[in-house]
Amino acid sequence: MTKGNIPRHVGFIMDGNGRWAKEHGKPRTFGHKKGADVIHEIVSASFNGGIEVVSLYAFSTENWARPKDEVDSIFDLLRKFLKKYAKELIDEEIKLIISGDLSALPENLRSECLERIADTCRFSEHVLNIAINYGSKAEIVRAVNQALKNGKTQISEEDIAENSYTKGLPDIDLIVRTGGEQRLSNFFLWQAAYAELYFTDVYWPDFHKKQLGEAIGWFSNRQRRFGDVSPK
Ligand code: FPP
Repeated sequence: MTKGNIPRHVGFIMDGNGRWAKEHGKPRTFGHKKGADVIHEIVSASFNGGIEVVSLYAFSTENWARPKDEVDSIFDLLRKFLKKYAKELIDEEIKLIISGDLSALPENLRSECLERIADTCRFSEHVLNIAINYGSKAEIVRAVNQALKNGKTQISEEDIAENSYTKGLPDIDLIVRTGGEQRLSNFFLWQAAYAELYFTDVYWPDFHKKQLGEAIGWFSNRQRRFGDVSPK
């Protein structure tokens, strides 16, 4: 599962952008912009520190309920992020995967996602997994339906894993949620079955390398037993 005491796969629930903006007297969309600005620092520091897979919760299936201008601005930030780092993904040999139903997204975002996925599909050492229009329950239902379509009459754990968006990736070792709430909000429930959960009050736009180091340090001191008696 882990390499030494470094998690192989870390998931980030990037919460608190709206409250950060409010505290700074700015619109919520400004908070998301600030949130998007720290992503490069956190993803690079994660890969440089030995983490193999980084999963980011960018837009959930529930986030459609937000005001249209906020939804549009998150999609715009995502598209710009993917465009800005298109070359770096290739230069740094980072495989991009997108978890979620792309069919409902604006065409310019969908095509940006598909191009970045195609550009980087040959890489494997580092994986950046961005969850967009993603919900874990929907993912599990989709996996079961795909397995049934493939002729399965009884569904195994392997069937779900094989038909999930994260097929072939290690399970999540550590989930970091910023913004003070202590819940998983439908984020990779299957993949996080044995994940350690780290909650911090820091809002996502204030989450930097230092805070990441604290989260990894906390993880390193956890003893993971996976249901067994002795630590692994
Ligand atoms: C949760 O904060 C954050 C989101 C729903 C959006 C996250 C999106 C980004 C950081 C930008 C785009 C992403 C990438 C990968 C470039 P919230 O709005 O729920 O905060 P609040 O709880 O304080 O209101």
